[in-house]
Amino acid sequence: MKRIGVLTGGGDAAGMNPALRAVVRTAYQHKVEVIGIQKGWRGLAEDTHELLTPSSVSGIMARGGTILRTFRYPEFATPEGTAPVARTLKKLKLDGMVVIGGDGSFRGAQKLEKEFKLPVIGIPATIDNDIPGTDISIGFDTALNIAIDAVDKVRDTATSHGRIFVIEVMGRNYGLLAAQVAIATGAEEVLLPEVPFNLDNLAHRITQGYDRGKQHAIIIVAEGAAKASYVTFEIKERLQRGVRMVVLGHIQRGGSPSGYDRILASRLGHHCTELLLQGKHDVMVGLVANKIKTSSLEKNTRISAKAVLRDARLMEALV
Ligand code: F6P
Repeated sequence: MKRIGVLTGGGDAAGMNPALRAVVRTAYQHKVEVIGIQKGWRGLAEDTHELLTPSSVSGIMARGGTILRTFRYPEFATPEGTAPVARTLKKLKLDGMVVIGGDGSFRGAQKLEKEFKLPVIGIPATIDNDIPGTDISIGFDTALNIAIDAVDKVRDTATSHGRIFVIEVMGRNYGLLAAQVAIATGAEEVLLPEVPFNLDNLAHRITQGYDRGKQHAIIIVAEGAAKASYVTFEIKERLQRGVRMVVLGHIQRGGSPSGYDRILASRLGHHCTELLLQGKHDVMVGLVANKIKTSSLEKNTRISAKAVLRDARLMEALV
């Protein structure tokens, strides 16, 4: 291979930059040129790209977001959105491509493989951690720690006022981020998309907690389970106590990557580039039981609820 492309797709995740840095530096050690596609799949359609060299990725280890930028580009699923991508690919003459992103990006990667016969390899990066072929995706650890820090702060004010707080955590339709935030902050309750809930029972348990002398109640709500505004309204209706809500939102996606995410991104970025240059493709790299493993891109678009249910049981055992 003489020339590969790299892009970051979907929602940004802290650690995308260290992954990109590892891809570029590994490729250059093999004297392979790297073209950075800006703005994800949309950039491939609009032909916005730059030559990346080892020095163009210097100083990005600690930077949040992605220096390549990213865009949602649902048009890539349509013939109108695909035609300009075909034009760009013809022009760029890439021998392979690294796609850094989540399940949506991997669907795009499969399309490149199938429709354009371009060898592609994926690096899992999403705060949702909803990719089956890896125990953990890049960005999850940073988002978890940001959310933990925020909930710890909210708890201080909740205790001072004796209030109930409903805190909404991201994760799209998957509850793992919320479940782990709840465990790590010792929250009183968690609502997850994978586990049916009953707000009457929840309100009853909160009353019992206050009766036992608790000074606050923290309810973590996964965005895929319910809106924080709905839960707040329903709890207020049932209990005569102060209830406030916090939606953590995109604060969970920003900030400097944690040490864990920097190392994970460097390992996956390096390994996946080595594999691509050796001719391996149509797979993503992941960390499984602390070893780097590959799995087919196709298998990485639907996750089971197993890990969330495991953490939901732990949460229940510890409240
Ligand atoms: O997939 C990452 C994620 O942050 C989800 O947790 C969330 O539902 C979604 O992206 C938000 O997307 P956007 O930034 O496009 O609003």
